[in-house]
Amino acid sequence: MNDLSNSPAFELHQLASVGRLLTGIVHEINSPLGSVLCNNDVLERSLAMLGELLADPRPESIEKARRMVDTCRTLASVDKIACERIRSVIRGLKTFSRLDANELRRVDLNQQLQDTLKLTQAEFRRRIVVDTEWGELPEVECYPQMLNQVFLNLLVNAGQAIEGEGKVTVRTALEGECAHVSIADNGRGMTPVQQANAFRAGFTTKPLGEGTGLGLSIAKEIVEEKHGGTIRFESEPGRGTTFHIRIPIRQGASRCECERA
Ligand SMILES: Nc1ncnc2c1ncn2[C@@H]1O[C@H](COP(=O)(O)OP(=O)(O)O)[C@@H](O)[C@H]1O
Ligand SMILES: [Mg+2]
Repeated sequence: MNDLSNSPAFELHQLASVGRLLTGIVHEINSPLGSVLCNNDVLERSLAMLGELLADPRPESIEKARRMVDTCRTLASVDKIACERIRSVIRGLKTFSRLDANELRRVDLNQQLQDTLKLTQAEFRRRIVVDTEWGELPEVECYPQMLNQVFLNLLVNAGQAIEGEGKVTVRTALEGECAHVSIADNGRGMTPVQQANAFRAGFTTKPLGEGTGLGLSIAKEIVEEKHGGTIRFESEPGRGTTFHIRIPIRQGASRCECERA
């Protein structure tokens, strides 16, 4: 088995890309958690008070109790939303930790992409709109943890290419024997020289600490060597970049010929 996933460069890069999202992820978990805790305080006090009110037979006490129950109900539904937010972030994180990098599985690629998008959500939230178009896909046989890494790399790149506000569009479609995933941004795009070097390991235009120059070379290795797929892009300076990934639906028998010709 090719041990790309055990290579130090792969692991470092993986850590770096999850790491740079971590601040956002922590915030994404912390703020709803804070609101749940605070609501819980109010709920505890309300319940204590409700106990007293119910022991008091006067009509005004019953009326007060009724209003309090309404408030508790509202708090409970706010808590539910907060917990769902936390759960969706955790789900995105799990995608990275739970899956064995060397395990070939059949997965719903749309779901994998949605989970990976949740990790970038915190960073994109105020700045970048994410448009999605999910095509109907059969289960795709792949190393999901590795593909998620590719998607994360491309999404982080897209986010970094956008100064201020912008848009990232994620699309999936079935193309013959392949699943086609495209990730487009309307960011700064690449000059011809950058385009020629983009997949070269170590090539980066980003300041130290922001870029490792490994993302695209790892992505290429994962898509082409590990999955027999293809990764291409088109880019126009000042207008944006679109990456196209094609992964054969089944490993082994047919390689991805959709676009190789
Ligand atoms: N979506 C994009 N828009 C513009 N430039 C990009 C995009 N994706 C990659 N690049 C260019 O390719 C280079 C290499 O990308 P990558 O291998 O992911 O390394 P890194 O992101 O660490 O620099 C980037 O530094 C950038 O110049
Ligand atoms: Mg990158």
